[in-house]
Amino acid sequence: MRRILVIGGTGNVGGHVVSQLAERGARFRVMARNPDAASFPPAIEVVRGDLTADDTLDECLHGTDTVFLVWVAPPAAADDAIARIAKHARRIVFLTAPLKTPHPFFQQPNPSRDVAERIERLIEDSGMEWTFVRAGMFAGNALHFWGPQIRGGGTVRWPCLNAPTAPTDERDIAAAACVALCEDGHAGKEYVVTGPQSLSQAEQIHALGRAVGRSLCVEEMSPDQARSELLPVLGSPVFIDMLLNAWRAAMGQPAFVSTEFTGLTGASPRPFRQWAADHAEEFRA
Ligand SMILES: NC(=O)c1ccc[n+]([C@@H]2O[C@H](COP(=O)([O-])OP(=O)(O)OC[C@H]3O[C@@H](n4cnc5c(N)ncnc54)[C@H](OP(=O)(O)O)[C@@H]3O)[C@@H](O)[C@H]2O)c1
Repeated sequence: MRRILVIGGTGNVGGHVVSQLAERGARFRVMARNPDAASFPPAIEVVRGDLTADDTLDECLHGTDTVFLVWVAPPAAADDAIARIAKHARRIVFLTAPLKTPHPFFQQPNPSRDVAERIERLIEDSGMEWTFVRAGMFAGNALHFWGPQIRGGGTVRWPCLNAPTAPTDERDIAAAACVALCEDGHAGKEYVVTGPQSLSQAEQIHALGRAVGRSLCVEEMSPDQARSELLPVLGSPVFIDMLLNAWRAAMGQPAFVSTEFTGLTGASPRPFRQWAADHAEEFRA
């Protein structure tokens, strides 16, 4: 049986990777920068490690042969970290985005894309067997995007309301990763995982309203208003422009919907209304 190290196991997707590996009875440990803050069941082994300090990786990697990697660390650390991982592991499954999918939403230049491409190249050149899980827009972005406004009242103001995406349930992304982590035959494969439905941002907000049992009023915001008003929500002007560019490029055609999840797992991807129902409490005041 493979011995897996999960890097990013305290995050949105990695948390589901951890619980699904446990359900599968897989042998794995989790790396975290602060194991004391990680809230896993006691049976799960958590080891301290940091991608920006590659000497901390040896203990985490000791005795493992397979790695699940989420990269949100500074890009400058990538060369050393991937080289250190490749000294121990024979296989790696990397969470990335559909960078090769020829849909305008996925083809806008931006800094996140540059980082992901760079890490993909480092992994390809590392000598490890690799699998790339190319996830579409996470359904969970809804919590960051619209959670504060939905919890705060009945009106949601947002830019590019007609822009469609195919929100992807983090549990499905994790399920695809777990197949590649635990089963043979996935070396050199790239799986594009999206939700099953193209939905405009307005449709997604209304789906959330139905899930919480409230009729929401949805108002278009201009890109300039978004740049100033959404800074506290989205964090950085670069990130806001990245989203605005992608949404504007996406308008006028349906979002890209992949069938690869079903081919890989035999299951249907979860629809956004299910994600909304399962997370409704987090949108209630
Ligand atoms: N959001 C989307 O729509 C979307 C779509 C496609 C792809 N993606 C990609 O998905 C990734 C984000 O996934 P996510 O939302 O699951 O991540 P997340 O919730 O932000 O979690 C990040 C994880 O990385 C760990 N981490 C951060 N800095 C670290 C470091 N220096 N060393 C070791 N671990 C570190 C954190 O662990 P600790 O803090 O516990 O150490 C945490 O477990 C990004 O690469 C993004 O580009 C996102």
